Amino acid sequence: VDHLLGIKYLNEADVQLIFETADHFKEVINRPIKKVPSLRDITIANLFFENSTRTKLSFELAEKRLSADVINFSAAQSSVKKGETLIDTVNNILSMKVDMVVMRHPNPGAGVFLSKHIKASIVNAGDGAHEHPTQALLDSYSIREKLGDVAGKNVVIVGDILHSRVALSNIFALKLQGANVKVCGPMTLIPKYIDSLGVEVETNLRKALEWCDVANMLRVQNERMDISYFPSTREYTQQFGVNKTLLDSLDKEIVIMHPGPINRGVEITSDVADSKQAIILNQVENGVAIRMAVIYLLASKIKN
Ligand code: CP
Repeated sequence: VDHLLGIKYLNEADVQLIFETADHFKEVINRPIKKVPSLRDITIANLFFENSTRTKLSFELAEKRLSADVINFSAAQSSVKKGETLIDTVNNILSMKVDMVVMRHPNPGAGVFLSKHIKASIVNAGDGAHEHPTQALLDSYSIREKLGDVAGKNVVIVGDILHSRVALSNIFALKLQGANVKVCGPMTLIPKYIDSLGVEVETNLRKALEWCDVANMLRVQNERMDISYFPSTREYTQQFGVNKTLLDSLDKEIVIMHPGPINRGVEITSDVADSKQAIILNQVENGVAIRMAVIYLLASKIKN
């Protein structure tokens, strides 16, 4: 069975195939009739063991645009609360003739674990602080759309790198496509293994912004950390927050990204988040086409 468990399992040709397929679906969802009948014979379960707005709704919409049958599961309202295990939960859902599982889970490796125990295609919609592959794909796709190509571009990922699945998947995806990648943030929020990923650390935000074509601003993930990790929110914002004055003082206009949800006034001010320099809502728009492409390509393998 084929899965999308992380960007680390993909090669560059896989990414390009997903982008070309997404180009087609982006055109489809801009037609008056936004739906295609491709997956009428496929049933997909969206399993969310952790909160989500964008990813959950984007997957559901992508699946419906492809005419798949869709069921949604939220752990908070389920029998997980009565002690049912992950494997029992998923096998019960699969016995209802489900072909594919999209899963968000707080534990790193949850998708890989599940893939060893069930007979269905799995798409990782975020596993703890590990990977968020469709977010990285839609991020690179949005850079490609805005700047023409990802190869050769300078991209800085700013903020809480340590707890971020978005950072790790983006690093894998950007390096695969030949981008130059730096991370920028307080050393307490940079993982020790960062050098092994071939990524430079820049702790001075101004220098990082002067170097880059694109800055991907991450949210500080308070829910994943002990408060002692972290400078105070005020200090964080002073040193690592992006505001209009700082951007206007650079000698070029860089592209600003954010995966959402935004902590307005912490990692990014509203006048930047809502400016024409920011492609934050384009990222969300592109997420539907990217997820249609991923699901379509995996479902094609199930059908054959
Ligand atoms: N970007 C992202 O994963 O957002 P959600 O947590 O709202 O899905």
